[in-house]
Amino acid sequence: MGGRTPLLVLTFSLAVLSIKLGISHGCRETERKALIDFKRGLHDPSNRLSSWVGEDCCAWEGVGCSNISGHVIKLDLRNSRRMDPWALRGDITPSLPSLQQLNRLDLSGNYFMHKPIPKFLGAFRRLTYLNLSGAGFMGRVPAQLGNLSTLQHLDLSYNCYWDDEGGGSFCLSLENSGWISLLTSLRHLNMTWVSFTNAANWLQDLNALPHVQEIELISCDLGTFPRSLSHVNFTSLTTLDLRGNYINSTIPDWVFNITSLEFLYLGGNDLHGFFPDSVTKLTSLKALDLSGSVFQDGFMQVTHISNLCKLQILCLSSVPINDVLANLEMVFSGCLRNSMEELDLSGTQLSGSFPDWLGNIKNLKSLDLSSNSLCGSVPASIGNLSLLQHLSLGSNDLNGTISKDDLANLSSLKSLDISYNSIYLNKSDDWIPPFQLNGLYMGFCQILPKPHFPKWLRTQPTLDELYLSNAGIKEAFPNWLPSGLRYLYLSDNKITGEVPQFFPKLKYLYLSNNSFSGNLSKTSSNLLLLDLSSNKLVGGVPDSLCNLQMLESLHLSHNNLSGQIPHCLKSCTELATLDLGHNNFIGNIPTWIGESLLYLKTLSLRSNAFTGSIPQLSSLPSLRILDLSNNNLSGNIPEELGNLHGLRSLNLSKNYLIGQIPWSIGRMKQLEVLDLSRNNLSGAIPSDLAALNFLNHLNLSYNNLSGRIPNGNQLQTFTDSSIYAGNPNLCGPPLTKNCTLNIAKAGEEEQNEDSSKSRMETLWLYTSITLGFIIGFWAICGSLLLQQTWRTSYFRAIDNMFDKLYVMMVVTVAKYKRKL
Ligand SMILES: *[C@@H]1O[C@H](CO)[C@@H](O)[C@H](O)[C@H]1NC(C)=O
Ligand SMILES: *[C@@H]1O[C@H](CO)[C@@H](O)[C@H](O)[C@H]1NC(C)=O
Ligand SMILES: *[C@@H]1O[C@H](CO)[C@@H](O)[C@H](O)[C@H]1NC(C)=O
Ligand SMILES: *[C@@H]1O[C@H](CO)[C@@H](O)[C@H](O)[C@H]1NC(C)=O
Ligand SMILES: *[C@@H]1O[C@H](CO)[C@@H](O)[C@H](O)[C@H]1NC(C)=O
Ligand SMILES: *[C@@H]1O[C@H](CO)[C@@H](O)[C@H](O)[C@H]1NC(C)=O
Ligand SMILES: *[C@@H]1O[C@H](CO)[C@@H](O)[C@H](O)[C@H]1NC(C)=O
Ligand SMILES: *[C@@H]1O[C@H](CO)[C@@H](O)[C@H](O)[C@H]1NC(C)=O
Ligand SMILES: *[C@@H]1O[C@H](CO)[C@@H](O)[C@H](O)[C@H]1NC(C)=O
Ligand SMILES: *[C@@H]1O[C@H](CO)[C@@H](O)[C@H](O)[C@H]1NC(C)=O
Ligand SMILES: *[C@@H]1O[C@H](CO)[C@@H](O)[C@H](O)[C@H]1NC(C)=O
Ligand SMILES: *[C@@H]1O[C@H](CO)[C@@H](O)[C@H](O)[C@H]1NC(C)=O
Repeated sequence: MGGRTPLLVLTFSLAVLSIKLGISHGCRETERKALIDFKRGLHDPSNRLSSWVGEDCCAWEGVGCSNISGHVIKLDLRNSRRMDPWALRGDITPSLPSLQQLNRLDLSGNYFMHKPIPKFLGAFRRLTYLNLSGAGFMGRVPAQLGNLSTLQHLDLSYNCYWDDEGGGSFCLSLENSGWISLLTSLRHLNMTWVSFTNAANWLQDLNALPHVQEIELISCDLGTFPRSLSHVNFTSLTTLDLRGNYINSTIPDWVFNITSLEFLYLGGNDLHGFFPDSVTKLTSLKALDLSGSVFQDGFMQVTHISNLCKLQILCLSSVPINDVLANLEMVFSGCLRNSMEELDLSGTQLSGSFPDWLGNIKNLKSLDLSSNSLCGSVPASIGNLSLLQHLSLGSNDLNGTISKDDLANLSSLKSLDISYNSIYLNKSDDWIPPFQLNGLYMGFCQILPKPHFPKWLRTQPTLDELYLSNAGIKEAFPNWLPSGLRYLYLSDNKITGEVPQFFPKLKYLYLSNNSFSGNLSKTSSNLLLLDLSSNKLVGGVPDSLCNLQMLESLHLSHNNLSGQIPHCLKSCTELATLDLGHNNFIGNIPTWIGESLLYLKTLSLRSNAFTGSIPQLSSLPSLRILDLSNNNLSGNIPEELGNLHGLRSLNLSKNYLIGQIPWSIGRMKQLEVLDLSRNNLSGAIPSDLAALNFLNHLNLSYNNLSGRIPNGNQLQTFTDSSIYAGNPNLCGPPLTKNCTLNIAKAGEEEQNEDSSKSRMETLWLYTSITLGFIIGFWAICGSLLLQQTWRTSYFRAIDNMFDKLYVMMVVTVAKYKRKL
């Protein structure tokens, strides 16, 4: 008994103590309320916050409390799936700063509806980690963030959106960067895609951060490198990433005083001048990206790099080093021969025969020599690179045969690109390659012994992407292709037989311009894109195609398909592109297109035998291209069509449309193409057409239009009278026929010159922002661009804008690869 009392007392006092110190399992009421309020401001379609009920907020998903004080110290609601349904959407309620002790806040990957970052985030005095990456914030970054003096990690990257209507991209921006200099605890800063156009002092402000280790400012519109810096204080800086900033200057000397640098990425800028010898001071350097720079003397001084014995990654993509191949050989004859792991020399204007000595850089994992003018055959020494994972030789003038012995040691190979060469890949059917590929790109290559699907592909179950376009393949689709394929490009061959059963993982299937015949009957259900245009398909669109519920793009043009558009296609609600042109489809254009396919951007039904009138399509807010030309459509052009404010191209030519051109067409302010030729339209040309400032193609010929051709603004630029030909009752310039007095002045109005001028300026602004942004973005280290994983994780699904950028990048890269 005597022994127990002290124990009881101790237990009791501990309990009191813990109450006093606030150790509890429940959370604090004010904080719970703040969280509930925060939840109330959010739309949570996938119920990620379903655990946010009850008293103990510390047990809620994403919430972390201190086990000493019970305060909420962590709020981690990152949406790493980066997919729409998982994103929380909405607003951050002002009660959030009640979480006074918060030290970690991660809201990345959610969607805050293009609202500004709230100023009150500056009130979290203990915050060490703030991640708002890819979270749909817009506007100016509030200077109040400068109050976060304990912050160590700040990630504001990838907050941009693409404005479809205006056609521009909009990103977070800085009014000035002064507040950054107050973040004296900062270690990692990521402001990728934040616009720095108004932050000329950025370098001085960053230089005030004594502990900063990583700075990522990709595509921030930095524009210039401050020439001088009185004292370089970046003693801890290991990573400096300034890619895609159109910096037009020489590389300033202060960069080379940051001797702690390990990763220096300056690609995608307009750097020029002499390549500085002070680069030799950066002895810790592991990665150097100078892609897109143009150095004087054809990069003679490249030899300076040869002493950077820790260098593993060198990206010189698009740096003209044409005539100094010999210098390069010298560079890699020293210590770099052992250290180098990734070498990107794509688009560097290399010519002559394939550099044999590359086979000596024996630790290479990635080698990109694409888009050069290398000729002759691939040397056997490539076979020495037994660690090689990525080999890209596409778009050169290489010829000769790659035989199996050449590749015998490349057991680590994951992706191989030999497209756009004259290489023969001579592999017998029973070849068992030493590697397991994820990506194989052999477009425009000859396949030996005869053009056929290489049988050895059977041994590659991990294959994810296969590019065999334009490879002369002349046989039926085999049933043994690896079933894990997600991207399959087989366009421009002579593949025969029926359209195959699609593999379950397939997402993108390009089969255009082949000789597929028969009808479409076998399908599976995860395809996003199906391109079967220019084949020999017959019959109707089978109902089974409607099982492709994820389908975003369907191309069936230039076949012999017939019948009506099946009603069940209505359930493919994700469709953005529907191209059924140049077939023999009949019947009315279904009204459900305008009701169900709400994401439609491109609708082409041209050159079929559709009859009836144009259905109601004005509820398709995303529609950009509408082509119903060359059918048997009749009736009136519906007035409501003018509600398609975003339409860029409208082609209704070669039908039997009657009545007047609706005035509402003048409301489609983005219209670039308008073709109403060869119908039976009558009446006057609406003067509102003059307000279509972006119009660059107009054809109203062969109708029954009458009256004065309106003039002014954009219409004045159409001086070719043939666009009005075949309308005997039209008059006025550019026609020679004078208007007689009794023709009504069809609603002519004096156009407001000023408003159109300002609109024009806006266009230029948008265009330049967009172009600049895209160029800035894609002009970065090529290997990065083409790496499947990177591409997928960043671009596939984040949001609409990223998809577009991705498409544009791929298109640009593809063009570039084809040496256009
Ligand atoms: C709080 O609790 C967690 C889990 O029980 C433990 O890992 C952590 O070390 C504790 N922290 C402190 C400061 O006691
Ligand atoms: C921020 O979150 C994203 C994921 O949404 C992640 O990729 C990134 O690494 C995080 N940033 C930091 C600095 O941790
Ligand atoms: C940030 O600090 C400034 C003073 O430096 C103060 O006026 C302002 O209210 C603070 N803002 C927040 C959100 O704490
Ligand atoms: C931003 O940069 C930091 C390094 O400073 C990095 O850790 C983080 O992953 C980057 N964020 C994203 C979204 O890539
Ligand atoms: C850089 O460091 C020097 C010396 O420590 C100091 O005088 C100067 O103020 C610092 N510069 C900035 C911008 O913080
Ligand atoms: C760079 O370092 C050199 C010495 O290597 C020194 O003379 C020069 O002042 C430094 N420049 C800056 C901007 O720190
Ligand atoms: C870079 O600046 C120079 C003048 O300093 C100018 O002549 C040149 O055209 C600019 N280059 C680019 C790509 O803007
Ligand atoms: C590299 O390849 C060539 C040709 O196949 C061979 O002669 C040479 O011995 C190889 N060198 C090494 C280091 O393996
Ligand atoms: C493959 O590796 C073996 C052993 O390292 C070597 O003897 C042979 O020459 C290599 N083959 C090629 C084509 O490099
Ligand atoms: C390969 O190209 C070179 C010149 O580029 C030529 O001399 C050679 O005959 C070609 N070889 C083959 C097999 O076509
Ligand atoms: C292809 O390889 C076979 C045997 O493997 C050989 O007989 C034939 O000559 C090779 N063809 C070419 C063009 O190299
Ligand atoms: C059209 O009218 C103008 C004056 O109004 C006259 O000079 C011109 O000759 C006329 N042209 C024709 C083809 O009648």
